[in-house]
Amino acid sequence: MTLAPATSKDIKKVFDWRNSLDIRRKGNGQKVEWAEHKRWYDSVLADKDKLLLIIEEAGAVRLEREGKQCEISVYVCEHKRGQGLGKAAIEEATRLAFCTWPSIDEIIAIVKYGNHKSRLIFLNCGYLAEYVADGKDGFYRMVNRER
Ligand SMILES: CC(C)(COP(=O)(O)OP(=O)(O)OC[C@H]1O[C@@H](n2cnc3c(N)ncnc32)[C@H](O)[C@@H]1OP(=O)(O)O)[C@@H](O)C(=O)NCCC(=O)NCCS
Repeated sequence: MTLAPATSKDIKKVFDWRNSLDIRRKGNGQKVEWAEHKRWYDSVLADKDKLLLIIEEAGAVRLEREGKQCEISVYVCEHKRGQGLGKAAIEEATRLAFCTWPSIDEIIAIVKYGNHKSRLIFLNCGYLAEYVADGKDGFYRMVNRER
């Protein structure tokens, strides 16, 4: 598995992933328009507190730092799942976040209550699960404080 910082060449790939049915099902259900995607993509590449990492041809990891905290989110496209890419990418991105921003205390991931697979992967990558009661089902705040 290789994890490489996104460049301007990856913009279309990331657009397609963002708009895949699977992602839309899990997000707010809305399709992202190209102009909006381009604005977002350019702003991410220019922001020193954000890192967009490409998992080969399979997906992406987003790291966003805010103060002493960094949020991680990961996506592997459906036909590339179950091959260990997601777990390897989370491990590598976690290491990279602590190296890139030495002042952060913790990395967190927000995982929906029913998303057992993601919760297990983050647990296996050294994260702890904190259940947050919110709305109908709540969610898990996965936290890694080990650099
Ligand atoms: C979560 C996600 C990134 C996992 O990617 P992946 O490449 O399929 O994960 P891996 O192949 O690395 O699997 C890691 C572990 O999950 C296990 N696993 C795989 N498929 C599973 C399934 N359907 N149910 C339960 N466990 C499963 C694997 O056995 C592996 O465990 P191991 O390390 O003990 O062998 C991917 O499913 C995805 O993109 N989901 C949508 C977005 C999302 O939910 N992101 C997480 C919130 S930020």
